[in-house]
Amino acid sequence: MNKEISERLNKLKEEKNAVILAHIYQLPEIQDIADFVGDSLDLSRKAAETKADIIVFCGVHFMAETASILSPQKKVLIPDVYAGCPMADMITAGQLKEFKKKYKNPVVVAYVNTSAAVKAECDICCTSSNAVNVLKSIDGETKDADIIFVPDRNLGSYVQKMSGRKMQIWNGFCPTHNNMLPEMVLKAKNEHPEAEVLVHPECRPEVVELADFALSTGGMCKRVPQSSKKEFIIGTESGILYKLKKENPDKNFYPVSSAAVCPNMKKITLAKVVDVLTNMKNVVTVVEEIREKAYAPIKRMLEVDA
Ligand code: 13P
Ligand code: SF4
Repeated sequence: MNKEISERLNKLKEEKNAVILAHIYQLPEIQDIADFVGDSLDLSRKAAETKADIIVFCGVHFMAETASILSPQKKVLIPDVYAGCPMADMITAGQLKEFKKKYKNPVVVAYVNTSAAVKAECDICCTSSNAVNVLKSIDGETKDADIIFVPDRNLGSYVQKMSGRKMQIWNGFCPTHNNMLPEMVLKAKNEHPEAEVLVHPECRPEVVELADFALSTGGMCKRVPQSSKKEFIIGTESGILYKLKKENPDKNFYPVSSAAVCPNMKKITLAKVVDVLTNMKNVVTVVEEIREKAYAPIKRMLEVDA
């Protein structure tokens, strides 16, 4: 890692009372300079808890936006404003409003991979690590037919299976995860028959079916050191391989697909991190009216998980 950049960043962080949060899919050099590397849920908790005045969010836009919704008094900076999430863009607030009209008293569960405007139209958020518990928290009076889940059809299908509640699921997906096919998992299993298979629930149901565990990125990082296995087939974005290997040097990891790369996560570079912190650029804000509405479902989610 570039020593000069890291020293510069440490100085800037101290001067400005800033913290650097990074998602597990970030480039190795970003993970190395971050104060905390975690999954979506851990990152939103850290954003809510930190005493720092400035959060540099190394991840995609909805993650930085969630941090800003939780901590409006802090400045949240994103190193690249074009780091979006195609799945989050697959539903707009207008589309969700129309969808809700089809049901009498809908309860809307929104994956955190949504815009603030969509969150403002929902009742409770979830991430891949707490989605099943969030579903279980919905009271038994609510008819299954009135539960709406947006936007990920694959996570929706997984949660439906695990919670036993039949929902109305939006037809969105993550291109990076949806492109992983069952034959790729079968090939990896064939090549590494002793390996434990861990996949993200954003993968297709046919892929999840072949796995030993469907876990969030943070869940995978916890599972590996607990497992007696030495080899793992990993069905999620490639950035996680760096963290897994760093924390478990005696174990081996094989990606389901080497093409599983989220181009948006990879837009964040060290130079951009230095630039936003030096120049206080790319502040992520949410209009107060939307922020207040979007805060409630995120807070409800954090309470479920507590
Ligand atoms: P995690 O919540 O598991 O970190 O997932 C976030 C994400 O964007 C997966 O593609
Ligand atoms: Fe969005 Fe998929 Fe990238 Fe995650 S991996 S940020 S869901 S596009």
